[in-house]
Amino acid sequence: MPASPIRKLVPFAEAAKKKGTKVYHLNIGQPDIETPPAIIDAVKHADIRVLEYSHSAGNESYRRKLVQYYKKVGIDVTYDQIMITTGGSEAILFGFFTCLNPGDEVIVPEPFYANYNGFACAAGVTVKPITSTIETGFALPPIEEFEKVITAKTKAIIICSPNNPTGYLYSKEEMYKLKDICLKHNLYLFSDEAYREFCYDGEYVSAMHIEGMEEHVVLMDTISKRYSACGARIGALVTKNKAVYDAAMKFAQARLSPPGLAQIMGEAAIDLPDSYFEAPKAEYLSRRNLLVKRLNAMHGVICPNPGGAFYAIAKLPIDDSDRFCQWLLESFSHQGETIMLAPATGFYGTPGLGKQEVRLAYVLNTAALDRAMNCLEEALKIYPGRIEN
Ligand SMILES: Cc1ncc(COP(=O)(O)O)c(C=O)c1O
Repeated sequence: MPASPIRKLVPFAEAAKKKGTKVYHLNIGQPDIETPPAIIDAVKHADIRVLEYSHSAGNESYRRKLVQYYKKVGIDVTYDQIMITTGGSEAILFGFFTCLNPGDEVIVPEPFYANYNGFACAAGVTVKPITSTIETGFALPPIEEFEKVITAKTKAIIICSPNNPTGYLYSKEEMYKLKDICLKHNLYLFSDEAYREFCYDGEYVSAMHIEGMEEHVVLMDTISKRYSACGARIGALVTKNKAVYDAAMKFAQARLSPPGLAQIMGEAAIDLPDSYFEAPKAEYLSRRNLLVKRLNAMHGVICPNPGGAFYAIAKLPIDDSDRFCQWLLESFSHQGETIMLAPATGFYGTPGLGKQEVRLAYVLNTAALDRAMNCLEEALKIYPGRIEN
């Protein structure tokens, strides 16, 4: 079981803080945007006498309301095609358990959300990475690259758009290429759409928008980022494939039910006005613009402009991103401050890749981000492992 690249440097950050250094956390996708008070109030004011198990697929009232939400984003599903899960994490896990047997293979464009490794490990499944590169801004690799790794054991492709960790937003053309390959080889398409609401350039295309893919698509969703409600632990697995849904239900029944209080939050969130997303989206956009501008202005740094989510991958003039990120916490400070980043090595399945790359989550306000960028700029000037690209 691999360590999380996002959390493995935490002891070094704790030690830096004990020394009195302020640490800017750009390592983790924990949004700082306030959770909408209305959804917390919904729990406070709920009339609960017994906090019961819910239906294993989640409260029917919530699932019926989610149908309205999905309609607004162009996804046409019925309530019995939606299964509420304990975070998007459990939806991904159910997808693996349901659609793949131990020994099967799943193709994932890398760099990818590192926890897919953990879920694959739990399901006994092998991840087959195909590399997308910083030079193309992390676009979908050519279809031939998929063809090269497909074997009799390949059962699914996972995509995440807008992407964590690259911020890349797949185009309609790319989604149709994926459709062709899934239909040709009879593969499931796992579509992780955790960041749907945060698209800045280009149009969001859901795997559920693609006609002719009804039996293939398993949508993995979550309210964690959408409403800054990571601690609620509410997500959803959505599929029109009845056999997949029915099999996933067995896993859902085995764990009894998703969180009860948080389902009340999720349901209340659907009553938020459509305008709710305008402010967080504008905030993330101004942060992205600042971050990308500052990074590309640093000598030897390359950062493609991410089209969505709240992450960017940057290539730095360094020897080893794991060493650099640890050094930032252990041996560096600028005006009593430093920065915590996620080494990109953990987001690649191919050993050796990502050694010069880091992931930055722009989950701090612009003033804090600017100071964090000052730290990075100064650090790159004096890092002993600096190399010129
Ligand atoms: C791409 C992606 N999928 C899934 C998750 C898991 O989300 P949840 O908090 O709903 O389990 C995350 C969390 O960061 C994520 O970035």
